[in-house]
Amino acid sequence: MAMLNEALLREALKGRRFGNPLWCENEVESTFVALRERIREGAPEGAVLVAEAQTKGRGRLGRDWVSPKGAGLYFNLLLRPKAAASKAFGFNFAAALGVARALRCLGFEALLKWPNDVLIGGKKVCGILCEAGFDEGGGLDFVSVGIGVNVKSRAVPEALREKAAALQEFSSIERETLLLALLDALEESVALCLGDFGAMMEQYKALCLTLGRFVAATGGQEAKGLALGIAEGGELIVEEEGGGLVYLRAADVSIRGIMGYV
Ligand code: BTN
Repeated sequence: MAMLNEALLREALKGRRFGNPLWCENEVESTFVALRERIREGAPEGAVLVAEAQTKGRGRLGRDWVSPKGAGLYFNLLLRPKAAASKAFGFNFAAALGVARALRCLGFEALLKWPNDVLIGGKKVCGILCEAGFDEGGGLDFVSVGIGVNVKSRAVPEALREKAAALQEFSSIERETLLLALLDALEESVALCLGDFGAMMEQYKALCLTLGRFVAATGGQEAKGLALGIAEGGELIVEEEGGGLVYLRAADVSIRGIMGYV
């Protein structure tokens, strides 16, 4: 399995903010953990740590993210936003929007599932997880954005094949091309998140296939009903039978008719 072409990436990233510095590792426990050390040493906004494999990749809601060597693109991007701690949640949406837009630019029909799964053909191809650090004054010290894209089919464990897919199943793509497109789009969506949060959320909602559909939420919060919208704090608003509204913060949401929920 060919390693990422580091020289090509460095050349293409010259003068760009996201992707500088760039650390390419062979195998790490998790790119979160590996970047954490660099964050402590003062790594700047835009720093990226990418690994060929992870032995303990982390997923949402305490799950693992299986990360076989060279089968996916596993990386963390460091943000150092000058923003209040209360704004941290927005970067989940900005990251999801950036990934979906990059994939769409590359010809994939990517859509979003609240809060930040990226789907093609109703199957998850990318997961995103953000971790924030705070300063003593109530501001954000950093946001570490972890992104895992299934590129080759063997990135998707057998048991998840009904709900997840790899980019290769739709069209072939080099991981280098993908990373460069992702960093470009992320730079744009993060800037929009800070500059015009409302506009960023409008773009997110336009690609979000959860909205207007019947959903069932488990894992954290439970609810069943119509996904009406997204609240100011990023919560998914679900109207249950009987008209009661539930605001979902952290949950696993199945969409009726998609990913096996009927
Ligand atoms: C999810 O469960 O949907 C989120 C998955 C996030 C996986 C990526 S892979 C790179 C980064 N490092 C990790 O340990 N997890 C994230």
